[in-house]
Amino acid sequence: MSATPTRPDRIAVLVSGRGSNLQAILDAIDAGTLPAHIVGVFSDKPSAAALERVEPALRWSASPKDYASREAFDAALGDAIEATQPDWIVCAGYLRILCDAFVERFQGRLLNIHPSLLPKYPGLRTHARAIADGEAEHGASVHFVIPELDAGTVVAQARVPVRPGDDADALAARVLEVEHPLLLAVLRLAVAGRLAERGTTTTLDGHALFTPLLLDSAGALRAPGADGPV
Ligand code: GRF
Repeated sequence: MSATPTRPDRIAVLVSGRGSNLQAILDAIDAGTLPAHIVGVFSDKPSAAALERVEPALRWSASPKDYASREAFDAALGDAIEATQPDWIVCAGYLRILCDAFVERFQGRLLNIHPSLLPKYPGLRTHARAIADGEAEHGASVHFVIPELDAGTVVAQARVPVRPGDDADALAARVLEVEHPLLLAVLRLAVAGRLAERGTTTTLDGHALFTPLLLDSAGALRAPGADGPV
């Protein structure tokens, strides 16, 4: 008798702040629209509001200032994550740069949601920078994490218009509305075993994904120009 293959459905989430993306994941799991388990929520900010969104047994946090170096903190974080045996590690508002050894340790399982249409606007203050540049469009990207900041291959993006009179907060709120369905749509592919990172290439169903998928207005992901959702 052969063993039933297990789905890669164990998700660890890294957070530093309020945790609305984490909440979207929790709500989707509760609603039965994301067949996954949260195995742990990890933070570099012991006071992060995001931690309160899960039961204490699932929380791990520590202050980087209590560690001798960035590498020592990331090693402790990595050990705690590894102990939960996650299939996927999702940075959802994790505001600390991860050191190369951490990224290499979890490469291929490490996803980040970033509030810009990468490769535009890596780093911080993305909304203010997009407005200052007069962009007509802005949005969010989910990408695999590599050692270079916000530079891994982009799996999927969601676009929103920049409206006249937008300030950074107004634009951030519009982007956040699409971040949640975007992240959930990518995680559905991930836990179904359809998504992988092979070297520097992202694959979907075993085929290289050369252009990011796009979130449509129904919350489904499409390859650009394709008739139906993936
Ligand atoms: C989101 O905009 C995410 O893209 C960025 O940080 C923010 C986190 O929001 N990396 P939340 O903590 O999930 O509410």
